[in-house]
Amino acid sequence: MRIDKVVIPVAGMGTRLLPATKSQPKEMLPIARKPVVQYVVEEMVDQGLKNILFITGKDKRSIEDHFDRDPELTQRLSEAQDLEHMEEIDYESEGVRFFYTRQMIASGSRLPSGLGEAIASAEQFVGDEPFVVGLGDTIIQSSNYSGLVRRMIKSHQRYGASATIAVCEVAEDEVQHYGVVKPKGRGKTDFEIDDIVEKPSVDEAPSRLAVAARYVFNPEIFAAIKRTPPGIGGELQLTDAIRNLMKMGHTVRCIRLRRDERRYDIGSPESYFKAFIDFALSDQKYGYLIRQYIEQRLREI
Ligand code: G1P
Repeated sequence: MRIDKVVIPVAGMGTRLLPATKSQPKEMLPIARKPVVQYVVEEMVDQGLKNILFITGKDKRSIEDHFDRDPELTQRLSEAQDLEHMEEIDYESEGVRFFYTRQMIASGSRLPSGLGEAIASAEQFVGDEPFVVGLGDTIIQSSNYSGLVRRMIKSHQRYGASATIAVCEVAEDEVQHYGVVKPKGRGKTDFEIDDIVEKPSVDEAPSRLAVAARYVFNPEIFAAIKRTPPGIGGELQLTDAIRNLMKMGHTVRCIRLRRDERRYDIGSPESYFKAFIDFALSDQKYGYLIRQYIEQRLREI
């Protein structure tokens, strides 16, 4: 079955990036020329995925505005013959369709309650088809063309998995920030897992292979989410639902990021600064000047 639906959760609070995220979503923070979430959308469209559902929440309206048609702006760009910018905002001619739903906040709670619950909001949109999840705060960059999601879909279908997860190796002291998987064998490039743990301590981590913000799921994940109680941080964790999926007898596999693929998780000031610098340095027009500037500044400091 062809997979053409993507779910992009953008309902998180972005607390670690305050005050920049006080009144704007972290997914809209610019990384060089574009907001974070535009990189995610472009990655999906490049991979041929054109039906995109955002799971939004409080203060996320600017994401809807960003991807909406803007006839006035298009007219102005067209009059100025600014084809470059026109292409960058023209999703319509590529046949991309955007959908939005809001993550429900449970009664008695003041905050959205976890990635598992966000994904549960996509059940109607997804229907009985497999689908892709791309976290809206994480950019996957490749030095050439990133075919990560396509590789994941291929493997997912080939092995008849119920979930296929992107993973990358992280330093030992970073495992506590991620979902961490336990490969069945040696866990080389494309492998089955028999466990997954959300934000384990260094001692509890079953490996150093961390979940890297891209997933392919069969609709069985919704049944698994329904059986999952709140986990770490009192949130309904997608990782726990994936664990339940395995307990229900389903196969879960992983694809490791290639050496030329990098994950930028825009969750903290440090990762945000690093991502901005990397993308500014690789900008076709200004990258060279920025490199000169940084070199000069480093000499002065
Ligand atoms: C979420 C997931 C975690 C995953 C991470 C990055 O964590 O719960 O398993 O490793 O995204 O993909 P969060 O960044 O929301 O804390």
